[in-house]
Amino acid sequence: MKNKLQQFKQDILRQLGEVVDISLLQELEKKYLGRKGELTLLLKDIGNLPAEEKKAVGKLANGIRAEIQAKLAAVKQRLGVSQADKFFDATLPGEKIKAGHLHPLTQVQRELEKIFTSMGFMVLDGPELESDYYNFEALNIPAHHPARDLQDTFYIDHKNQRGEYDLVMRTHTSSVQVRAMERYGAPLRCAVLGKIYRQEATDQRHEHTFYQIEGLMVDKDVSAANLMAVLQTMFVRLFGPGVKIRLRPGYFSFVEPGVEVEMSCLLCQGKGCPVCKQTGWVEMLGAGLVHPNVLRFGGIDPKIYSGFAFGTGIERLAMMKYGIDDIRLFHSGDLHFLQQF
Ligand code: PHE
Repeated sequence: MKNKLQQFKQDILRQLGEVVDISLLQELEKKYLGRKGELTLLLKDIGNLPAEEKKAVGKLANGIRAEIQAKLAAVKQRLGVSQADKFFDATLPGEKIKAGHLHPLTQVQRELEKIFTSMGFMVLDGPELESDYYNFEALNIPAHHPARDLQDTFYIDHKNQRGEYDLVMRTHTSSVQVRAMERYGAPLRCAVLGKIYRQEATDQRHEHTFYQIEGLMVDKDVSAANLMAVLQTMFVRLFGPGVKIRLRPGYFSFVEPGVEVEMSCLLCQGKGCPVCKQTGWVEMLGAGLVHPNVLRFGGIDPKIYSGFAFGTGIERLAMMKYGIDDIRLFHSGDLHFLQQF
């Protein structure tokens, strides 16, 4: 019996080693290991052996069967059967592909770009490393003017021929106002979105680096009514029809008159909460009618043309839109935060 088994093993392994196609392999499998296969029948015979032989022969037979099965699997793989044999369920849900998404600030930026292009504004860019001229001087903020203190920034270690520091990280997107006037003249409608810098101690509501959107419109007979209409459109499209805005006087040397615009607090529906300091109103942006000096710096005649300008932080808009109470979260890179949008 033992010899017979060994003989079997030799035969089968040899034949398996020579197999070159699948049908031959299946034939062999059936011939030896099938329900009526030769090896299967032989194994059944072991049951009839006397007890003392049964144990040893049984052990040998099991070893041989395992060896043959391993060889069979290896040959199957060689012939590429195992893959083809596998049942493929086309109805199973696929493996989820992890995809990122746009940062909430980018989402709000894109929305703003859509709102303003739909009102005929072109979207402009400008340098973040800006000349003192475009950031301050041409905006009616001469050197040593106290208004500079309102927006202290990072000066770059570079001096002009007169020995003055002349390069700054821009403190606002207003720096693009005169650039735009120079390039496109009047009439003009543009929106500028981009990063700006402030020398600022950070807290829940303040960052040293953040994003702004600037709006500028210059044409004949542009008035505060046009400013209100455009701002109203922006707020309603961004926050929904229920939002209210109000103006109060504000000082910016590049507008006259200047205003600060507040919106009804969305977090408490105007009832009063910590974000709106219990007033029901949140200060959102600075705006006004473009100062005649600024138009002149831009090469536009203030006797013929007038304009309005406004500027606001995109983080601030996003905070109101999504109910976020700490500005520092935006640039923290914290995925728990970002994945909510
Ligand atoms: N540049 C101002 C700021 O950053 C905002 C502003 C823009 C005010 C345009 C008036 C007109 O605070």
